[in-house]
Amino acid sequence: MAGQQRELTLRFLAEPTDVNYGGKVHGGVVMKWIDQSGYAAAVGWSGRYAVTVAVGGIRFVAPVRISDLVAVSAKLIHTGTSSMHFAIDVRARDPMGGEWRLCTHCVIVFVALDGVEGRPVAVPPWELVSEEDRRMAEYAMRVMELSKGIEQTIADFQSPLA
Ligand SMILES: CC(C)(COP(=O)(O)OP(=O)(O)OC[C@H]1O[C@@H](n2cnc3c(N)ncnc32)[C@H](O)[C@@H]1OP(=O)(O)O)[C@@H](O)C(=O)NCCC(=O)NCCS
Repeated sequence: MAGQQRELTLRFLAEPTDVNYGGKVHGGVVMKWIDQSGYAAAVGWSGRYAVTVAVGGIRFVAPVRISDLVAVSAKLIHTGTSSMHFAIDVRARDPMGGEWRLCTHCVIVFVALDGVEGRPVAVPPWELVSEEDRRMAEYAMRVMELSKGIEQTIADFQSPLA
């Protein structure tokens, strides 16, 4: 497909309305940014509507301050049949200058659908070229296995006791 893009970065200012009770940006707001950047990258890659199926390994490493310049990057690191796995980095810095700080990292997985209420549909494969590509694909699969393991653990505990 023409115009496929592996990587995408959203840039904007953290707004006063994004504040949490401690004066920094709310974790839920950061998760919304992650979902938005992943969504834009997923529909751009697949040319399809896509939904979030899982988020793995999310870690809030450092706070984002109100009025920081924020960059949320989504990089495709693995494709399955219908799934697209993106490594997300949320970075922030003073808009007047200074170093970028890594604030949050995770892997988010989107599934392409054949319509808004549709079924999973195949996506163009991400072809691994470099050693770094292989390393990141391995990372995506490890995170997915861990995430599915958590799902199984939750399902086991949610089952009614015999
Ligand atoms: C996404 C959804 C359509 C998948 O339906 P499903 O019946 O589970 O479909 P499948 O079992 O075929 O799985 C589809 C893909 O999701 C992947 N997947 C499922 N659970 C996963 C997990 N925990 N981590 C990573 N990938 C996962 C599968 O591996 C499969 O990928 P593949 O096609 O590349 O092999 C369905 O779960 C759904 O509608 N979920 C809600 C999505 C949503 O509304 N998101 C917005 C947030 S509320």
